[in-house]
Amino acid sequence: MNKHSSTNTDKNKYLFCDNLPSKPLMNMGKVLVTGASGYVGGKLVPELIERGYKVRIMVRETSPVYKTLWPEVEVAVADASNQEQLKAALDGIDTAYYLIHSLRLGLRGFEVADIRAAANFRKAAEEKHIKRIIYLGGLGDIRSSLSSHLRNRIEVAQELKKGRVAVTVLRAAVIIGSGSASYEIIQHLVKAVPIIAVPSWARTKCQPIAISDVIKYLVGVLEISETSGKSFDIGGRDILTYETMLKIFASLLNKKMIFIPFPFSNIRFYAYCASILTPVSNPIIRCLMEGLKNDVICLDKSIKSFLPFEPVSYRDALVKAMSCGEQNREKVI
Ligand SMILES: NC(=O)c1ccc[n+]([C@@H]2O[C@H](COP(=O)([O-])OP(=O)(O)OC[C@H]3O[C@@H](n4cnc5c(N)ncnc54)[C@H](OP(=O)(O)O)[C@@H]3O)[C@@H](O)[C@H]2O)c1
Repeated sequence: MNKHSSTNTDKNKYLFCDNLPSKPLMNMGKVLVTGASGYVGGKLVPELIERGYKVRIMVRETSPVYKTLWPEVEVAVADASNQEQLKAALDGIDTAYYLIHSLRLGLRGFEVADIRAAANFRKAAEEKHIKRIIYLGGLGDIRSSLSSHLRNRIEVAQELKKGRVAVTVLRAAVIIGSGSASYEIIQHLVKAVPIIAVPSWARTKCQPIAISDVIKYLVGVLEISETSGKSFDIGGRDILTYETMLKIFASLLNKKMIFIPFPFSNIRFYAYCASILTPVSNPIIRCLMEGLKNDVICLDKSIKSFLPFEPVSYRDALVKAMSCGEQNREKVI
């Protein structure tokens, strides 16, 4: 979470679900939000509270900040590598959001840790008779040659689905919102660099999505039981190349940037440069940048039949993120 910059007074200012087509479920049991200290989890919790749900958060380290921000929540301290702690966190839970991700461990560490965490969680959820798991993962076609990060996001979904508990999977590309690692990389690059040498992978396609729309889909699928056991691609209004995404950002800042086609496309080199220019750590940038060679767009549009709202454009998502309205993180990962 936003480690942990929001104050109690502004905590409800930036809620996203006011015009959600679904309605809060009055008789819903307790909802668990894992990854509540992370970017997406930290945005989801206040929405669930506002809609009247009983919420327990699962975090690895306790902090008085959680009770200050969200006095209504129960706090469970658990690491997904510890089965007993997981079982305690899942005790009495109806539905669990699975937002655990170990990208901070870098290329060599996160894959094993994330699959193990998902397997542990599935077993504990089964034992505790959880009704549903809702997982937010990444877009990408598993049959194609995906980056290890994108492949891992899909493998985590497969791992969670191996058990008896119904899983709803939402798959998203880059999330645009203040504090999201991908957004912070784009933002800092555009602000810092006047000339960009554009490698070929800057022309692959991406369907970025605003954090407000991600939260609407996460809450919406909870409230529509027919989404149980299904997988959905979610995306924003626009399909863009990464180059265009940088150009739109620069135009919003009224910044002149020169883009020069460049044959040298070594990801390690680009990641190193980006880690100097942005507050995001090198291992995270490496993992994310390796995915730039893969198109990440919604191929399945079935979510529209359950949650038929119009997602915001990339430009509008940027404007919102830049307005600092989304409870900034002090420290980006
Ligand atoms: N952000 C994006 O642009 C984006 C885009 C598409 C999809 N997604 C998906 O959205 C989900 C959430 O992403 P995010 O951006 O919110 O990630 P994040 O900010 O890195 O948060 C990850 C969370 O996982 C927790 N965690 C890691 N290892 C754990 C463990 N062993 N036990 C318990 N908790 C553990 C972290 O807790 P600590 O604070 O203790 O480390 C943190 O709360 C991921 O599945 C990701 O693939 C994100």
